[in-house]
Amino acid sequence: MLLKNNNKIDESNIPGHIAIIMDGNGRWAKKRGLSRSIGHKEGSRTLKKIVEACYKLGVKYLTVYAFSTENWSRPREEVDDLMKLLLEYLKNAERELKGKNIRIRVIGEKKNLSEEIIKEIERVQKNTEHIKGLDFIIALNYGGRQELVEAVSNIVKDVKSGLISEIDEDIISQRLYTSGIPDPDLLIRTSGEMRISNFLIWQCCYTEFYFCDVLWPDFNEDNLKEAIISYQGRQRRFGGVK
Ligand code: FPP
Repeated sequence: MLLKNNNKIDESNIPGHIAIIMDGNGRWAKKRGLSRSIGHKEGSRTLKKIVEACYKLGVKYLTVYAFSTENWSRPREEVDDLMKLLLEYLKNAERELKGKNIRIRVIGEKKNLSEEIIKEIERVQKNTEHIKGLDFIIALNYGGRQELVEAVSNIVKDVKSGLISEIDEDIISQRLYTSGIPDPDLLIRTSGEMRISNFLIWQCCYTEFYFCDVLWPDFNEDNLKEAIISYQGRQRRFGGVK
């Protein structure tokens, strides 16, 4: 695979888990005099292409930040339109992904989500749970701190009931929404912002970060490959010496 800048992807070192903060939909729309919701719609089209690109590259897990626990504070109309987009996405997911080995999971709090969305999440998760190719994980009504609060509350219950007596890192990891999913190797955030905004705060402890200026609706397969090439140039030491 050759990119414009002549860099090549090392196909033997594809990150197993990529996490993406899909930022910049609003700015993309504003630049064109369009509503923010149109920006999200365009962002949803980009997402479909990036899921396919990850699948083709052999990525095993892709986690995207679709809606945070903080996003409820956005104008009512924008929240409603985002929820409609998510519902539509879930409803059409299997048809769109037909023929590809892609499993869909949704992580986050179910509280505050409509009955209709919860039903679709349950349906799509059940229908794809046997699939072993790419695990596509949608973080919806997700907040890293909230995830830790829930995990700690569950641990307290298990300690009180005598189920566990000691707490270690595995005990915590197993009680997160991402239980059983390896930590992300690469986190991409688009649109020039350089923060993780409450996304996978426990899981990203040794993740490589890649920030790029491209607004999410403009992000494409070449941008994804550039992020992967940057990742492949890093030396991961996990706190040790190499
Ligand atoms: C951040 O951009 C983006 C979001 C809060 C929503 C992300 C949603 C999608 C890409 C589409 C729907 C997703 C699925 C899974 C179908 P922003 O609105 O904060 O942009 P701004 O910083 O430019 O205002």
